[in-house]
Amino acid sequence: AGYAWADVASLEPAAAAGPAVRVRGAAVRAVGRRVAFLVLRQGSATVQCVVAGGSRGMARFMAGLSRESVVDVAGVVSLPREPVRGTTQQLVEIQVEKLHCISRAVPNLPISVDDAARSEDDVARAKAAGEQLVHVGQDKRLDYRVIDLRTAANQAIFRVQCQVENIFRQVLLSEGFVGIHTPKLIGGSSEGGAAVFKLDYNGQPACLAQSPQLHKQMAVCGGFKRMFENYSTFRAEGSDTHRHLCEFVGLDVEMALRDHYSEVCDVVDRLFVAMFDHLSKSCARELEAIQRQYPFKPLKYLETTLRLDYDEGIRMLQEAGVHVEPMGDLNTEAEKKLGELVRDKYDTEFYMLCRYPSAVRPFYTMPCPDDPRYSCSFDVFVRGEEIISGAQRVHDPELLAAQAEARGIDVRTIAAYVDSFRYGAPPHGGFGVGQERVMMLFCGLGNIRKTSLFPRDPRRLAP
Ligand code: 4AD
Repeated sequence: AGYAWADVASLEPAAAAGPAVRVRGAAVRAVGRRVAFLVLRQGSATVQCVVAGGSRGMARFMAGLSRESVVDVAGVVSLPREPVRGTTQQLVEIQVEKLHCISRAVPNLPISVDDAARSEDDVARAKAAGEQLVHVGQDKRLDYRVIDLRTAANQAIFRVQCQVENIFRQVLLSEGFVGIHTPKLIGGSSEGGAAVFKLDYNGQPACLAQSPQLHKQMAVCGGFKRMFENYSTFRAEGSDTHRHLCEFVGLDVEMALRDHYSEVCDVVDRLFVAMFDHLSKSCARELEAIQRQYPFKPLKYLETTLRLDYDEGIRMLQEAGVHVEPMGDLNTEAEKKLGELVRDKYDTEFYMLCRYPSAVRPFYTMPCPDDPRYSCSFDVFVRGEEIISGAQRVHDPELLAAQAEARGIDVRTIAAYVDSFRYGAPPHGGFGVGQERVMMLFCGLGNIRKTSLFPRDPRRLAP
């Protein structure tokens, strides 16, 4: 008989005898010697397969399949006598007529998908009940990432993350932005500072770009009024934290301005409200799967994003008894605390903090015309942690060179960039988003490694 290729997720409950299908998936578990059952997984969908007609040889073969082996099953879709517990396709069963093992997994896997999929709550509950449940720590899961990625939560995390990128592009394209790609091999640091991966570029000193900052601004000088970029970013971060990677995906925007950097904030507002709306509605199933392993509360955000002045943030922190320097930078704890104060006062966990002191911003940031001690800049926070920084840029080459020098940057290393502003350059601004951070914080995942397919942190270069 002809068997039609089918996806596990789209198998429909059938009457007495349904269509003949062929399905390829991973063997999750096989049970029984006489009546063998095999649960097959494809992505995050699972279905039970039963040996048709009681073939003993096939039952024995099925029972002997090692977990995670890839198998082809051909058979007829049928209705189980009662809903199958423990599968996603509970109202469907496949009566197996043919079975082939395509790729045999080793019998003793270094970690099991079930163990990797366990939530910390499950482990704690089991412990309280005196049961022993294996809990695989994050490091070990990352060592065997190809197995770890098979959990339902991980399948969902990367599907949702793909939508973050997708909505970013869709909204910006609909607003007339053009997608660009700036070089990742550059002559010097793009953000100032030492956190760069250095390399030899045919005899010239070079480094991997920490951001597209300089070239996206040069693209504005090149006549592109509004642009965006999705790219890989490299930062030689020294310290191991829950939110820093050495390679991450950046989403950047740069645009010519009419009057004021608030035009950039307007784009952030429209973009992220649209993104959060879309994720909440269109990714509901994926978010549920993530929540089963990593419980989190839905993000609170407003229809129009709150913009708070830095001075006001400082005042709120001081009133709450937190010691902060009015013209200094906020440390991670202060940012977190301010996030809580803002949530309690304004009922939102997503907001922008505007008008930072100039001294704590990069050299290319435009000082405020009314008071140059402050800058036309902003950061954006989700659950008290930064996901975006943005600003209007200096487009006067003399001021730009002076600000770079004042921060100890050798202007010769960025001469081509500074010179770009000598040939006519419009006022402009933009922002940079850390994609993995958006995903981590939208789902309250607590560690950025969970949102990077094969994370590169200060210690990890493999797998
Ligand atoms: O704050 P950053 O360094 O700003 C820039 O790169 C500017 N050029 C942006 C601009 O257009 N003005 O980085 C932007 C964002 C941060 O808000 C954070 O979300 C993310 O990139 N980020 C990191 N994500 C993961 N690991 C790291 N080591 C990160 N460093 C920054």
